[in-house]
Amino acid sequence: MSILKMQRVLITGAAQGVGRAMAESFAAAGAEVVLTDLDGDRLAATEREMKAAGARCRAYVLDVTKDENILAVRQQLHEEAGTVDVLVNNAGVVFGGPFESVPMSQHRLTYRVNVEGVVAVTHAFLRDVLSSPRGHLVFIASASGFVGLPNGSTYASSKWGVIGFAESIRTELKQRQAKSVGVTTVCPTYINTGMFEGVAPPKTTSMLDPQEIAEKVIEAVEKRRIWVLEPWLVKITPFLKNCLPTAVGDYLSDAFGATNSMDDWQGHGKDAN
Ligand SMILES: NC(=O)c1ccc[n+]([C@@H]2O[C@H](COP(=O)([O-])OP(=O)(O)OC[C@H]3O[C@@H](n4cnc5c(N)ncnc54)[C@H](O)[C@@H]3O)[C@@H](O)[C@H]2O)c1
Repeated sequence: MSILKMQRVLITGAAQGVGRAMAESFAAAGAEVVLTDLDGDRLAATEREMKAAGARCRAYVLDVTKDENILAVRQQLHEEAGTVDVLVNNAGVVFGGPFESVPMSQHRLTYRVNVEGVVAVTHAFLRDVLSSPRGHLVFIASASGFVGLPNGSTYASSKWGVIGFAESIRTELKQRQAKSVGVTTVCPTYINTGMFEGVAPPKTTSMLDPQEIAEKVIEAVEKRRIWVLEPWLVKITPFLKNCLPTAVGDYLSDAFGATNSMDDWQGHGKDAN
């Protein structure tokens, strides 16, 4: 039986994509899932469909950029169900294109959702996770958190921020001897959700399947793994990046097609502001 059976798992950005795939996988492992998302209509449809499939879940509209909204959801959840054991920071946005052509409002939104949102939701729920006999924090970062990403500079740097935050929280909890809490940082290349429509995955790899990443995350939580790096190329990227001269790293990025991967980005969130 999965150790997730008695756990309550809160996921941000759970109405679609990787968030929904993880919600379904956590529910299949026996967890009670708290679905949250900015998009109320899609969230309601996801909750309905998951319940129809037999999942134990509940849903709350939650915009990770709004502190009052986060705290109100925490209060309502505590009153209606109880505390959270596992927190999955998943909500994210991306706006591709040459840096100066992307409106400043979209660059700001990228940091507000991808970095400040992760910090705010973690701040609100860390006490819950610490009070659990087996708490866990999951941070959905990206392979772009290890490298530079032309035409995706604020997205990539927001994910560098997520990795730095997750690593700092992990080591802080270790220093505080909070042994009941695991921390997992997830760094995949491109996943087939529509967020990165039009991009080219790195050569020798293909577009990842959201369900496949979801399964890796569930396994990482069960086995207390610190990293999910997918596919194989990402497992060696941090080592190569730190050991090779920059010019060789740039050459490899070109050779694997990472440098031009965002050239034709047409992701589904491109009109948000
Ligand atoms: N798709 C990829 O190729 C890929 C690769 C690596 C990492 N990731 C990361 O995985 C996570 C999920 O990506 P996805 O592909 O499922 O994206 P998606 O666009 O399909 O889903 C993202 C969800 O986040 C929600 N969201 C957006 N802004 C929000 C906010 N302010 N508050 C709450 N919810 C909000 C959206 O409504 C949506 O339901 C993101 O953090 C993304 O950066 C994605």
